[in-house]
This record gives sequence, structure tokens and C-alpha cells, in this order.
Amino acid sequence: MSNIEQTLSIIKPDAVERNLDSEIKEMFKNKGFKIIKEKKIQIEKLEAEKFYKVHETKPFYNDLCSYLSSGPIVVMVLEKENAVLANRELMGATNPQEAAEGTIRKKYGISIDKNSVHGSDSTDNAKIEIDFFFKD
Ligand code: CDP
Ligand code: MG
Repeated sequence: MSNIEQTLSIIKPDAVERNLDSEIKEMFKNKGFKIIKEKKIQIEKLEAEKFYKVHETKPFYNDLCSYLSSGPIVVMVLEKENAVLANRELMGATNPQEAAEGTIRKKYGISIDKNSVHGSDSTDNAKIEIDFFFKD
């Protein structure tokens, strides 16, 4: 049975700053993702804090929120069969040093904090995150 899903992807400031957004979008398209919605924005730190609220108790939370709001990002809704998991696979491990060959983070990630992309980690969070950026 088919299971078409949508997931939220963010191209983070380190990648947008290096003009990697087109190349990263090509990687998504080559894997069969459709880019349903897309916008380039810069968010306030307060918005980043809301977006990453699940990490609020983590030691990296403050730096993470400063970083996500530090420059332009590209936010996308991606669609494909089992999109949530497929996107996590294409992104690779959180730490680029541990990411598999062929993944976005292996190819473009600089460090665990500057790891070039965000992707929803479950279908429930995908809905919440898509609404966060695209509800109007
Ligand atoms: O992004 P992902 O779902 O793979 O990882 P996460 O555990 O949900 O963490 C969110 C983001 O926090 C990561 O993508 C990293 O940018 C950052 N992070 C960090 O700076 N230092 C860590 N030790 C762990 C995560
Ligand atoms: Mg996560």
C-alpha cells in the first residue's frame, strides 16, 4: 500500500551562506521528493526557541536557537512515499563525522551544530513543524 507523507526540511544558515541550497534541493529531487512548498526567510531567535522547544533542557539549546536565527534559511515541505524516514536517511547522522556516504550531512555538514539541514523526526512532528512555518 502506498504511504505518501509530507515532512519539513530546513536548509540551515551554514548551507544557505555557502550557496548550497540549489545543490541540496537537487539531492532531494534526485531521491524522488517533490518540493510542495518553499520559502527563504530569516527567523527571530524567539521563533527558533519555539521551533526547538523539545530541546529546551539541552545544553546546546541556546546556541542552537542563536544559530538557526543567525541568517537566511530555506524552509520546505517535502513529499514522497515514507517521506519522514526517507528524509532522515538522506540527511544522515546528526554529527556529519558519523554520517554515511551519499548523505547531505556527510557531503556538506561542517560540524554537529553546523550540519546543513533539519528534518522532522516523526509524522506527528512533521505536521506540527509544517504548520509552524506554513500555517496562514
Ligand atoms: O537534527 P537532528 O534531528 O538530527 O538532531 P537533534 O538531536 O534533534 O538536534 C537538533 C539540532 O541540535 C542538531 O541538528 C544540531 O544542529 C544541534 N545539536 C548540537 O548542536 N549539539 C548536539 N550535541 C546535538 C545537537
Ligand atoms: Mg531532531
